[in-house]
Amino acid sequence: MPQLSDRVKSTFASPFRKFLPLAQQAKDRGTQVIHLNIGQPDFLMPKGSLDGIADDYLKYIPYGDAEGQMPLRKAWCVYYEKFGVALKADELIITCGASEGIYFTLMAVADAGDEIIVPEPFYANYNGFCQMAGVEIVSIFSAIEDGFPIPDIDAFEKAIGPKTKAILLSNPNNPSGKVYDLKMLQSLAHLAKKHDLFLLVDEAYSEFIYENYEFNSALTLPGIDKNVVVIDSISKRFNACGVRVGAIASRNTDLLQHIARYSRLRLSPPMLGQTFATRALKLPAEYHVQLRGGICRPARNHTPTAQSDGECLIPRTRGRLLPLCPVAY
Ligand SMILES: Cc1ncc(COP(=O)(O)O)c(C=O)c1O
Repeated sequence: MPQLSDRVKSTFASPFRKFLPLAQQAKDRGTQVIHLNIGQPDFLMPKGSLDGIADDYLKYIPYGDAEGQMPLRKAWCVYYEKFGVALKADELIITCGASEGIYFTLMAVADAGDEIIVPEPFYANYNGFCQMAGVEIVSIFSAIEDGFPIPDIDAFEKAIGPKTKAILLSNPNNPSGKVYDLKMLQSLAHLAKKHDLFLLVDEAYSEFIYENYEFNSALTLPGIDKNVVVIDSISKRFNACGVRVGAIASRNTDLLQHIARYSRLRLSPPMLGQTFATRALKLPAEYHVQLRGGICRPARNHTPTAQSDGECLIPRTRGRLLPLCPVAY
């Protein structure tokens, strides 16, 4: 029998997918299953956002530009203005979800055997992407019992070694919901510059900030244009995970041009998804304001001080609420 590669056999299996057959078995037994294993939001995507979308593709669906369609790249830059980010269209390329963006970025900033610092807890698929790229994760521990505090800057500095190429974080953090304030981002920027590291920030959840707390994009940090790379996604902010559209944004255009070598290998991001994303990003900001008031606030109000709800720990957060259950699998 032909043998599979050692590489694929040793690749970290996505823990989310691992749960699915177990959940299905429970459903088959008649048990109600609430899915906490995957970040699929439960609000409505923008009304009418799919109307007439196929009209652009009546005869065929072509490949598009490998780096993404220009109207979408421009729309994304305009959308970023609400976070105080001024970005040009050639400083953002479109990817097949943030997932591809993370993988392409890792491939471009680190060689096999290099290290990336990632504060815990982190989005579990970072493990798999790093493994695919041959990159080692050096994690910084933080405990669920302490409410998953963001590690202090000294802990980041201590983790830096001769092989470190980048710091990778998600802001707001998935799964803890912790949000990096401006001061901490500035400290990280200073550290990245001091040690010549890339600062990779996954901002997939930037719309999921409670009440009046301010979200600071890493793209607003001055003086470290060559170091900062933001990875972003349409998935969560419009509850459109299946359109598979994300972005890599950086003022380091040399890096983006190198990443485009990978983009060109997979030819084109999805065209229908890009049409959807272009429309959605042009929606009035009111869509997310309502979302925050209608969904996040009641959810937060129900757990104002809760650190523990039975076996379910709900850390106090300023962003993205997700109960965390310690499980063995
Ligand atoms: C922090 C974070 N980044 C990236 C992704 C993947 O996003 P996308 O659907 O755009 O590939 C997820 C999905 O849950 C996520 O939680």
